[in-house]
Amino acid sequence: MQSDIERVLFDGPAIHKRLEEMAAQITADYSDRELTVIAILTGSLMFMSDLLRRIPLPLKLDCLSVVSYHGKTQPSGEVIFKQLDVPDVADRDVLIVDDILDTGHTLAAVRKKLDIAKPRSIRICVLLSKRKRRARDVDADFVGFEIDDEFIVGYGLDFMERYRNLPYVGVLRKELLEQQNQ
Ligand code: IMP
Ligand code: MG
Repeated sequence: MQSDIERVLFDGPAIHKRLEEMAAQITADYSDRELTVIAILTGSLMFMSDLLRRIPLPLKLDCLSVVSYHGKTQPSGEVIFKQLDVPDVADRDVLIVDDILDTGHTLAAVRKKLDIAKPRSIRICVLLSKRKRRARDVDADFVGFEIDDEFIVGYGLDFMERYRNLPYVGVLRKELLEQQNQ
């Protein structure tokens, strides 16, 4: 697995240091409210669990399973929700947690779906954001790191469902992407 990585962008200690800062900011912002976290599976798993353990507030946790890629590296724009029911977030202060904001299709669709349930507020928290790639009008309120437009894996992020268990975020070697896109 290691040999498929061109270079490491953020190692474990760098990620954890940034999570401390993000958690402190979220804790301060929500100290007088009851937070409802909606984690977007599967990519946000590592990020969500490391982040939430640093937030000492009463909170509720729900997950939404969403598919937006269909195994390729180019987003299709189509977002499929794997479950029929949306968590009941009426009157709640919702924080959507995802691994990465890329074109914005996924988080725009998730936000629209949750909006129907009339939450009190919705904010978005992502570990990574590719600033140049936005196709939809969606921005994150809490961002771990801004990155260039490169395909990355690790710490929850996958390529063809692999590499999620790498303890760091790294750039996947281009040849591997090209093989797949042929
Ligand atoms: P968006 O809908 O284009 O914003 O894409 C969001 C989803 O695409 C993320 O939740 C990831 O699952 C996936 N994604 C986007 N960029 C990358 C990447 O560089 N590596 C792995 N997955 C990615
Ligand atoms: Mg995802």
